[in-house]
Amino acid sequence: MTRQRIAVITGGASGIGRACATRFAEEGCAVAILDTDKHKGCETAQHIARSGAVARYYPCDVADRVQMQQVAATLEREMGPADILVTSAALIPNTESILDMDMASHDRMWQVNYHGTLHACIDFGRQMRERRQGSIVTLGSINSLLPLPLPAYNPGKAAIQRLTQLLAVELGHHGIRVNSVAPTYVLTEGLQEKIDAGHRDLGKILAVHALDTLPGTEDVAQAVAFLCSEAASKITGVLLPVDSGWGAAVSYKTYAGGVPWDD
Ligand SMILES: NC(=O)c1ccc[n+]([C@@H]2O[C@H](COP(=O)([O-])OP(=O)(O)OC[C@H]3O[C@@H](n4cnc5c(N)ncnc54)[C@H](O)[C@@H]3O)[C@@H](O)[C@H]2O)c1
Repeated sequence: MTRQRIAVITGGASGIGRACATRFAEEGCAVAILDTDKHKGCETAQHIARSGAVARYYPCDVADRVQMQQVAATLEREMGPADILVTSAALIPNTESILDMDMASHDRMWQVNYHGTLHACIDFGRQMRERRQGSIVTLGSINSLLPLPLPAYNPGKAAIQRLTQLLAVELGHHGIRVNSVAPTYVLTEGLQEKIDAGHRDLGKILAVHALDTLPGTEDVAQAVAFLCSEAASKITGVLLPVDSGWGAAVSYKTYAGGVPWDD
């Protein structure tokens, strides 16, 4: 009998991470949600478990190296070694000036977004290396690709892309694939709150995409699931945009000479 696959999702309590946890449960995996938000983490695990899947919440601050090691060891004992890792835990900031930013917040963002990704990849990557199989997907962003005025988040996402490539080469040797997805703006609860508070302009967002609609969390989860599937067995080290055509449209639609069909 084949063993049930274990999918570990950091930041799985809400947004894109929650959609990934739900998606992998639908595919028959047992899912482990690692998150600092106990209330949402338990609620998500209970919600998934109601569909008959195995889902557990593990309290974990991904920035804390020791905590991550302990959670990874406990999880392996209780559920088994990880087959899939998705690193979705992150802090998402608002526009800031580099010269005036708060350095404590800057450093915390790097600790959570970059170091948190690294910590999870090390501890669950080691479990995968033991068994010479596994798939890791890191959460990048359109911020991995071009400069945007988020001085801790933006270079952090570029660094995650490079880390993904390094891991892909190092772990490829052990039969493990490592890829990243780069979503554009995804209308999560968090993004909606930022729009409502005036920190993001929905009109400006929609004006720089090829498609008229933005991806939902399930669209990102579907791309993540594809990268972890047999269909992607020869794909590693890539950054897959889930961007409603942002990459193609952002320079085109802001061209100084105008856009031919725009009235
Ligand atoms: N929403 C977007 O528009 C968007 C676009 C591109 C990329 N992303 C990326 O997708 C990922 C998920 O974003 P989201 O929009 O779903 O965010 P979200 O805020 O809905 O979810 C993030 C989760 O991470 C958890 N978290 C935060 N700090 C943590 C820590 N120290 N340890 C463990 N868990 C922690 C939060 O509790 C939350 O459950 C992030 O990496 C983000 O950068 C989001």
